[in-house]
Parts: sequence; structure tokens; C-alpha cells
Amino acid sequence: MNPALRALKPYPMAELQRRKTELAASGKTVFDFGTGDPIEPTPAFIAHALRNAVPEISQYPSVAGTPTLRTAAAGYLKRRFGVTVDGTKQVLPAAGSKEAIFHLPLAFIDPATTKDTVIYGTPGYPVYQAGTLFAGAKEYPVVLTRERGYRLDLASVPVDVLKRTAIAWINYPHNPTGACVDLAYYRAQIAVCAAHGILLASDECYQDMWFDESATPPPSLLEVATTGVLAFHSCSKRSGMTGYRSGFIAGDAALIGAYRGWRAAMGVGSPAFIEQAAAAAWNDDAHVVERRRIFAAKYQLLSDGLAAKGIEILPSAAGLYLWARVPSNGDADAYTARCLDAGLVISPGGFFGDGGAGWFRLALVPSLDDCRKALAVWPR
Ligand SMILES: Cc1ncc(COP(=O)(O)O)c(C=O)c1O
Repeated sequence: MNPALRALKPYPMAELQRRKTELAASGKTVFDFGTGDPIEPTPAFIAHALRNAVPEISQYPSVAGTPTLRTAAAGYLKRRFGVTVDGTKQVLPAAGSKEAIFHLPLAFIDPATTKDTVIYGTPGYPVYQAGTLFAGAKEYPVVLTRERGYRLDLASVPVDVLKRTAIAWINYPHNPTGACVDLAYYRAQIAVCAAHGILLASDECYQDMWFDESATPPPSLLEVATTGVLAFHSCSKRSGMTGYRSGFIAGDAALIGAYRGWRAAMGVGSPAFIEQAAAAAWNDDAHVVERRRIFAAKYQLLSDGLAAKGIEILPSAAGLYLWARVPSNGDADAYTARCLDAGLVISPGGFFGDGGAGWFRLALVPSLDDCRKALAVWPR
């Protein structure tokens, strides 16, 4: 057995889901703010594109993806970020960004060398760590703090670690805190990575989920560079397509080419009918404006409601989450258990690594009406 599998802790959300099912079976009304899996219907035009694309003869999908999807992805990057990429050489489809994130170290790290380390921030998305360990690579988690805006500043990492580092993960708008960055931040990280031969990987699955329509949208790493870097995009939250499993990777042509080779060996190709639906989604922005309006309303209602109860919220401008401090400086696991007793599923900060201690995360999932009902029973 791979030692990483033996050491694997259960995926944090699984235990919460078990408790949730237990509560629901006992007849309790449950409000699920746990997993970031939105309940708003997938826009009808996307489902139609999928149905129309189901072929009579089903053959293996290509790892490189359909030209339609790659063109749509490149078109989206141009429209949204002003970034020009070659859809053939610089875009690769993924069966959801999670697998592409998980697999990256398997393709780009040789654990037998001294360039064997992956840097990621904590709190953060747990998959950066899981992919590192399964690839036999070494992890270097950096604790992100409120004082420093939950920014992973690579210049603060010791030089001997940077020398050993093959991949650095960044993710803004940040899961779980909603922290955002600007182009100057990306420039600074690119400079450190260029100096130390590090592949800078930017997880950009919340880029289109900002709350104030009149504000400047979150930028992409690709606006600063398209060499030495990869950006990971996803249809999941932008278009309500978590179940479709579709995203894309874009950036450095040589890295994309190498990753395509690895992915062909492994056999991750996303079905052409899914890619057809994904292309329709990337080609349209109007449905995303509508989705942003819904999540912004939930964010406002919940942050006002929790603040009124004296619970401290981290103000955020984007993402799918609300990051809040456990009342009375309490323990997040104990508070999560109290919330569960009240029928509220939340994620304790520790789910996102040691840097999450003392905080909890709400995913903006229940309907506005359910958010109101949940606030009525929220424990202080
Ligand atoms: C930060 C981050 N990256 C990537 C993903 C994976 O998204 P998907 O695999 O649905 O594209 C998620 C999902 O919640 C996430 O929070």
C-alpha cells in the first residue's frame, strides 16, 4: 500500500456528512453550510448543450480535449482577464480541477532528487497536501494569518526550502477565508519562483465569484505571466456544474505539453459531451452575473446576522464562503458539535490545516430563506 494511503486521515467532510445524515434521520431540520456544493440549478442552456452532445457512438475522449472547449477556455481568459493564450498549446481540460490539482506533483516532481518539496498555505484546500504526499514528495505548509491578509508570501519562506521546492500553490480568492490579492502580489510570487526554479500553480476556481458587481474583479496570475506558471479553472462554482466535473489548466506551453503527456499515460480525458456543456458555460457570462447576485445576498445576510450575535467575521469580497471566529475564543471542534446539535453543519477551521484553528467556515449553500431560519437557531 502507498504509505500516504495508510497515513490518510478521513476526508474531513465525510465525517460531517455522516453526522448530518444521522441528524436528518432523527427528524431534525438540518442546514448544511459544510461542503461548497451549491444548490442553485445548473443554467438550462448548459444542460441542453450536454444533452445535444451525447453521441450515438461513444468513443474514448481525447486527453487534449475538444477544440471547442479549448477555444472557449481561451476566449474566456481573453474576455475576463485580457490574457491571450494559444488554445492548442496552452490549455488542457481537466475532469474537475480537483484531480488536476491532486495529480500535478505526480507529473512534476522526482522525489529521488532534492527538488522534492511542495509549498502550500494553511488554512487551505486539503488537496494540495494530499497530492503532495501521494506523489512521495515533501510538504512545506505555511501558516497564513489574518494580520497578513491570509497571503502566502513566498519571500518569507527560508531560502533552503525554496531551493528544494518544485511547486508552490496559491489560491485567491482563498478557500476558506475569501482573501483576495492584486497583481503586485502575483508579480512578487513570480519573481521568487523564477529565482528558484519553482512551478507556480494558481488555483483560480473562485475567480468569478466576487460579491460587489461594481468592484474590480479578482485578477488572474496569467495577467502577469504565462510562462513558468499554471492556472487551474473550474466550471464547478462559476456555472453550478460541480457534478459535471469539468475545468481546465492554462499557462506555460511546455508545462502544459508535459502534463498532457502524463495525463495521456494515466488516462484522464473528460467526455466530449461534458466538454461541449463546459464550452457553452465558458462562452457565457450572463449566468455568472446572476449567480454572483445570489451568493452576495447570502454572504450579506449571514455576515450581518452573525455579527449581530457578536460573532466576528472576516470581511471578504469574493469566494463561496464566510470565515468567522469561534465565539469566546473557543475550540472550533467543540463549537462545530454545538452547531450540529442545533441542526447546523459548519466546517471547523482545522479541516483546512493547522492555520485554521479557532475559526470556522460556512459555505454559502443553503437558500436565503434557510439562511434566515438557520440564523434564528445559531448558537453564540
Ligand atoms: C480551492 C479549491 N480548488 C479546487 C476545488 C475543486 O473544484 P472542482 O474539482 O469541482 O473543479 C475546490 C472545490 O471546492 C476548491 O475549494
